[in-house]
Amino acid sequence: MRPLLNVINDRVFHLANDTVSYILYLLPNNQLGHLYYGPRVTVDEATLAAYTTLESKSGGTVHFDATNTMFTLADQLQEYPVYGTSDFRQGAIAAADGDTPLYLNFTYVGYRESHEKPRDLAFPKSFASDGEVDVLTITLEDAAHGLTLEQHYAIFEDAAAIVRWQTVTNTGTTAVTLTRALSGGLDLPTADYRFVQLSGNWARERHVKTRKLAQGTTAIESQRGASSHQQNPYVALQAEGGTLTTGAAYGFNLIYSGNFQASAEVNEWNQTRFMIGIHPDQFAWRLDPTASFTTPEAVVTYSGAGLSGLSAANADFVRNHVIAPEWRNRKRPVVLNSWEAAYFDFDTEKLLKLAAAGKKVGIDCFVLDDGWFGHRDDDRSSLGDWQVYDKKFPHGIDGFAESIHKLGLQFGLWFEPEMISPRSNLIAAHPDWVVAPPHERRAIGRNQYVLDFANPDVVDNLFAQMTKVIDATHLEYIKWDMNRNITEAYSQYLARICRPQGEFFHRYIGGVYNLYARLLAAYPDLLIEGCAGGGGRFDLGILFYSPQIWVSDDSDAVERLRIQTGTALGYPLSAMSNHVTAVPNGQVQRTTPLDTRFNVALFGTLGYELDLTKEPQAVLDAIAQQITTYKALQPLVLTGRFHFLRTLEDPGHNTVAWALEAADQSRIVFGFYRLLANPDGNAVDRIAIPFADPAARYTISGREGTVTGSALRHLGLRLPYEFNGPNQAVAELAGDFQSKLLILTKED
Ligand code: GLA
Repeated sequence: MRPLLNVINDRVFHLANDTVSYILYLLPNNQLGHLYYGPRVTVDEATLAAYTTLESKSGGTVHFDATNTMFTLADQLQEYPVYGTSDFRQGAIAAADGDTPLYLNFTYVGYRESHEKPRDLAFPKSFASDGEVDVLTITLEDAAHGLTLEQHYAIFEDAAAIVRWQTVTNTGTTAVTLTRALSGGLDLPTADYRFVQLSGNWARERHVKTRKLAQGTTAIESQRGASSHQQNPYVALQAEGGTLTTGAAYGFNLIYSGNFQASAEVNEWNQTRFMIGIHPDQFAWRLDPTASFTTPEAVVTYSGAGLSGLSAANADFVRNHVIAPEWRNRKRPVVLNSWEAAYFDFDTEKLLKLAAAGKKVGIDCFVLDDGWFGHRDDDRSSLGDWQVYDKKFPHGIDGFAESIHKLGLQFGLWFEPEMISPRSNLIAAHPDWVVAPPHERRAIGRNQYVLDFANPDVVDNLFAQMTKVIDATHLEYIKWDMNRNITEAYSQYLARICRPQGEFFHRYIGGVYNLYARLLAAYPDLLIEGCAGGGGRFDLGILFYSPQIWVSDDSDAVERLRIQTGTALGYPLSAMSNHVTAVPNGQVQRTTPLDTRFNVALFGTLGYELDLTKEPQAVLDAIAQQITTYKALQPLVLTGRFHFLRTLEDPGHNTVAWALEAADQSRIVFGFYRLLANPDGNAVDRIAIPFADPAARYTISGREGTVTGSALRHLGLRLPYEFNGPNQAVAELAGDFQSKLLILTKED
């Protein structure tokens, strides 16, 4: 069914598709109230009249509506609230005239509807084909302060999601400063939810952490200039009593990569206000007369099937409405990356041997990571100087690229466009391009400073440098890295053009998007993989341009079980770039079997990052086999549905089971992982496959005969036999960090 908007009495707006309904309405004071978001409902005029009759729990501070009746906002569910009238909770928007706060009062003017939301590279936003989306825009105005507020809502034919964003316009005659402009969120009538966040650190990104809501504010944030390793902008509110696969859950995310805040505030009546948007601290945007500011988009997903259902809703939304359509179903190259194979220690000969070894095992694309430019022998120099290091490449980067292409491989290069080294030609030429106030102490991170991407000259310079290399090498792939966060945020450019420094962080990320947009407009086939010291900017803003992002610098298979589980809650597997690396692992010094490293990496976009020239033939043969297996299964990674069957949060914390179901349900890839061996094994352990087709029979790779889908659902899939001494003849898992991949195929 096409998404639809039903407007009742010019007062109530009901957005609906097959799965969800979103209802908002005009409060007695002509501001926007929120009524409902959840499973699709059928409502008529009489029903809505009953639900939109206000009852106030608050006898406290009041505010008079147009008809002069007592009315308070303190306990009203609202669409885009304002602090400081009769609502004491956090507001979504705030503005000031110099030092004077403005008590904003946006009241209804009218609405319009459209069925278009095209993809536009200028700024990351969701998109849809014409007719598959309904966009409702409600215009409100605060005439006294000369401001217009447009509330935009998009509902898509195929997504259990609502997307919200706003445009504020100064219609007055004097400048106003926006000090807060969140993207909105959701007011909920109860507080019976758990706040599920994806948190961590470098090499430990997006671990699932859960807190129960209580009166007060539960919040996460980043003020690092990037969405960050520490907190991811994805948050879920899971209804109390729900499980991984049951119960209501709401997902929130921003299509944005900069500073953010996400908070759930529970008031004295146990109502919950969830809000997400640009972090209001460090933010101050001057709106001159006639100027507008548009907030990033917030995506609010819903599922009645627990966090697993929500994960599927998020994955579908991101695949269909955020990631570039040309990459949606397109097979991604299996890369061999030089970083953990050689670090900075390489020359042309060594790299060509590595690439040739990659070609033999089935690699598609050779990626030359850090160390190919300027005079870069370690991480202390040359960022900003994107010209080939001629000592390492006597035939130039074009000559090297040609050799790679002659091997029958695609070629990829690492760039870190946003950074500048204290030892570089660029800093000597443009000292004022560094982010920091002039003449002040500035912090250095990974031996580098950040370039002022708020300055269009900086973006122009990087575009010119990068296109020169892309043209010379006929480059197919870029790894776009970003290895430090922003400190002493200050733009000398903004100071020069007399804009507030409070605009810096948003303009910075806008500059990043601008460079992405220009590169992709010039090279539409270029695959740009996102990276930020591993997974420090794994968000929908980057995914809009980069269909895949390096998940973490930690590629240890055991660590990745947690990192990939958390990441899969909010993002599709196709977005997750996973490499098989050498052991002992560089980050944790753990030695895991090659099989296990592959069986974990397979649930995403596969690559390799180890010195193949040093591996014995048996390992190379195994890798060649893995790549063949992966290429056969890659369509499932791109379009299938991921299921969490057992996570490390389950009792025992020792086993994980994941499944990937083909979009046409013809196959299921089942991965089972066990951290530590059990002395007595688990010989009869089974796990239910609740989505197996009860009317079908399945073959299971490596096992005799067939089983019914009904048995898989109810008796469960027999897990691999674990070594327990007497069973050594049949044991399939022996020792620590073992895993097993099973492919279940439906019989015709
Ligand atoms: C970051 C990335 C790594 C690698 C190095 C190179 O840490 O996450 O994958 O590219 O930089 O310096």
